[in-house]
Amino acid sequence: MADDILFTSFKIGSLTVPNRIARSATMDYRAADDGSVTDVQVALYDSLAKGGCGLIITGFLYVSPDGRSASRQTGIDNDALIPGLHRLTDTVHAAGMTIAAQLVHGGVQIRKKTPGDLMAPSVLPSYTGVREMNDADIKLLIDSFIQAAVRAKTAGFDAVELHAAHGYLLSSFLSPVTNLRTDIYGGSTENRARIVIDIIRGIKSACGIPVMIKMNGDDGYDGRGIDADEAARIAVLLEAAGADALEISRGMIGSVRTPAEPNIETAGEGYNLAAAARIKKAVSIPVIAVGGIRDKQSAVDALSNGTCDFIAFSRPLVREPDLPNKFRAGAERAECISCNRCFNPRGLACGQVGKG
Ligand SMILES: Cc1cc2nc3c(=O)[nH]c(=O)nc-3n(C[C@H](O)[C@H](O)[C@H](O)COP(=O)(O)O)c2cc1C
Repeated sequence: MADDILFTSFKIGSLTVPNRIARSATMDYRAADDGSVTDVQVALYDSLAKGGCGLIITGFLYVSPDGRSASRQTGIDNDALIPGLHRLTDTVHAAGMTIAAQLVHGGVQIRKKTPGDLMAPSVLPSYTGVREMNDADIKLLIDSFIQAAVRAKTAGFDAVELHAAHGYLLSSFLSPVTNLRTDIYGGSTENRARIVIDIIRGIKSACGIPVMIKMNGDDGYDGRGIDADEAARIAVLLEAAGADALEISRGMIGSVRTPAEPNIETAGEGYNLAAAARIKKAVSIPVIAVGGIRDKQSAVDALSNGTCDFIAFSRPLVREPDLPNKFRAGAERAECISCNRCFNPRGLACGQVGKG
């Protein structure tokens, strides 16, 4: 089978990525208590880069202390963390690969916080201890993302990715289910996208680093949230604001108490490819598809038939950090069985490896 397309280079803005394989952001629960990078994390990124992944997107990095979702999450909220982050970019660059910093504010997805500290665009009946964000909160949030992107550039990252999917704070502005505001940040598609647009523009004028956005092609709210058509409208607005690439995912964590990422366990092969194809028709910037892609052939087909420009993997690379090299050497399918046991607050690890 001709799989050459997987191993051709492609550009994201000014950045040349050596192949079409991305590691989708994967929180590793392996940072130090102060949010700084540890040796274990450097080794993880080294194995991904040496394993052949052209673009490695970090696990989500909190842009401000109040946006931290877990105790062993890595931060990018202050300059003292830059040297540690630089170790990650150095190790990836040494292997000839590229690396993007995923930036996040957890919004209502923050555990172990004092009730009342949580903030959201709107207070839904299912929330407890959450307050509606005011203008000052929004300004501060936009600035936190911009400052984090400036730090990412200083730390040697090739790009940043705004986490605007899965129920974290930016996605709860985008979705009509979680954003009930009546000011300029709510209502129309343009208004709900405004905060992301303001952040993209702010980053571009502050440091010019390429900006990618991870967004939902489907919120998973049974037709009440974002679907592929609405996502395509948002995508057009983000491209006009200066976005350099879009990564298409799906699902919102439903409530403050839901423990993990969206339920991705039972979805089929390439379950976001249709949404990615819809969005790609609407924009001219690169589109990255993620979610349930396990067969090399479906990856090759998606790239060849214009569904997307990059294929991203999360769980398969937990099990096989060298999956890109294995594909190149002839492997046809990732070994990952999507059991979700890699979600482990004691440290990212495949739940199957060693089980025989
Ligand atoms: C352990 C784990 C941690 C994750 N952490 C993040 C994260 O930090 N940011 C993010 O956008 N998505 C995160 N995800 C979601 C993945 O990036 C990806 O969208 C999802 O797992 C589907 O892709 P896959 O089928 O290749 O695993 C995580 C997924 C897993 C399994």
